[in-house]
Amino acid sequence: MGGIFGFICSKEREVRDVIIGLQRLIYRGYDGWGLTYFRGEEPIVIKQLGSVSSSPTSINERSYLAVGHTRYASRGWPTLENTHPLMDCHKNIYVFMDGIIDDYEKIRDELTKSGHKFVSTTDTEILAHLLELKDLKEVMDAVKGIFSAVVLKKGEKGVYAINKGQPILLGLGKECYFLSSDLPSLSGFAEEAVIIPDNSVLYVLPTSYEIFADGTKPSIKRVKYQPEISEKAGFPHFMLKEIYDIPEAVINSYYSLMQKYLTLAGMIVYGGKNVFIVGNGTSLHAGLIASYYLGEMGIQSHVVSAAEFPYYSLENVTTGSVIIAISQSGETSDVIKSVKLAKIRGAVIIGVTNSVGSRLALESNVYLPITAGPEMAVPATKTFTSTLIALRTLSLYVGLNSGKAGNRDIADFESRIRALSSFIKDSLNAFEEEAETAASKIESASLYVTSSGINYPLALEGALKLKEAAGTHAEGIQLGELLHGPITLTLRGHPVIAIKPAETAAEDLFNKVIKTVTDREGKVFVIKVEKTFGWDLSPVVNAIPIQLVAYKLGVRLGLPIDTPPGLVKAVVV
Ligand code: AGP
Repeated sequence: MGGIFGFICSKEREVRDVIIGLQRLIYRGYDGWGLTYFRGEEPIVIKQLGSVSSSPTSINERSYLAVGHTRYASRGWPTLENTHPLMDCHKNIYVFMDGIIDDYEKIRDELTKSGHKFVSTTDTEILAHLLELKDLKEVMDAVKGIFSAVVLKKGEKGVYAINKGQPILLGLGKECYFLSSDLPSLSGFAEEAVIIPDNSVLYVLPTSYEIFADGTKPSIKRVKYQPEISEKAGFPHFMLKEIYDIPEAVINSYYSLMQKYLTLAGMIVYGGKNVFIVGNGTSLHAGLIASYYLGEMGIQSHVVSAAEFPYYSLENVTTGSVIIAISQSGETSDVIKSVKLAKIRGAVIIGVTNSVGSRLALESNVYLPITAGPEMAVPATKTFTSTLIALRTLSLYVGLNSGKAGNRDIADFESRIRALSSFIKDSLNAFEEEAETAASKIESASLYVTSSGINYPLALEGALKLKEAAGTHAEGIQLGELLHGPITLTLRGHPVIAIKPAETAAEDLFNKVIKTVTDREGKVFVIKVEKTFGWDLSPVVNAIPIQLVAYKLGVRLGLPIDTPPGLVKAVVV
């Protein structure tokens, strides 16, 4: 995987704009970066290992054409040779790729036998060599995989891009066209972007472009202006900044949902023959919480990891099935695969994503935006809480159909979100201090995070945050289950983070588990927010202390919190 950003202009512009674009795509990979620009007719290549965010933007040159790539090392180690662009034998063709080619080893062997010299171990390099022999469309058809690529050729005024199932967008700027892997990165560069359809080739010149597509018409999306997109606004890490964004994000998320789509989605879910909720990681945990929301409205749903769904759930998907597909990035390949397979079987797709131009948004029959704003840190924080707002709102619209909720409940929810937002805003500093204190007392290399009811999925989410941001093993477990074996570890001082359940029915169990663990000299850290905003919003408010504890622990351990080793924001491999 990786991120591509470039420009082609009628007038020269600063090459470092490409670095700015790549820094906005840092969530797609940070193992190395490279770029190519033209000095007159001469292509200049720069490559560096590590994150483009820690690279100086001091390239003081202008060019009419420059393209760059930030790399996630999925095929081939993070080495300079594997950093993009990859070139052909004669160094005339420069290729930047986002995605994967499945049959690259076989093709590379064939090309090597016929005399081509390879310098890298990446799949991308085969494209450069194939382009010596065939045109772009033929190359796209000749290889198996899901990817987008941008190609520069020495001596040519234009630039090519291909989309073989992986998005690449063309931003329409004033004197420039921009190529990018996502929409938000175009903020400030272009106001509109053309979504290049799957399996098509784009050719861009400084003042015109042409798309060679089979059938599907390209669509145009507006680029939302987001001046803050890649700035930490004075915070030491994006993760902390994004936690501090939560009060505003929850409000935006609620007010960005359009009534007509909520009404439609509410009717679809209510009328569904069966309802599946799919997602991965944090989105899966949000989906688990949504199953409690839907349960309250009388709808039984099946929450399945998108990594498992195609293998174990598909046979129960038929016409009339409803899939609520959740993905912050909207690009996670497990989610896209699940959605595509379910569509073939006649299911209706309700997509919930933070990315308007994403594949999930395009594949969905009804699309509900999360509207949390761009999230740069790999550990998801504000998108989790905003996803919960979107899903809870959806459940209330389902309730309008089942008779379990009325307009008054929606109005009440709106006012509770507003109150919650101001409370979080006022409490964040205090939460941060308490999280700091808690983190200073955690010395173990492993933790339990436990809760019950609607906060149980939050225990899973908290454990995920501890792994990603604090590099610490943690297991999310139901309160009651802790007693069935796992509690034995607490005899040895194993820390337990216990999130107070929102349901009164779980109170006795909560107290009993805490007592049992402390009696055995286990270390218990209780997460209990005194002010309540209702059962449904309790995982939203409780998420913040647990996110902050993970963050603070990561800081104490000196970890690269925003970019945990070996992870990327959207898993498309
Ligand atoms: C969240 O902190 C993780 N980085 C990860 O589990 C993530 O939630 C998962 O990969 C799904 O991503 P998506 O929401 O973009 O589909």
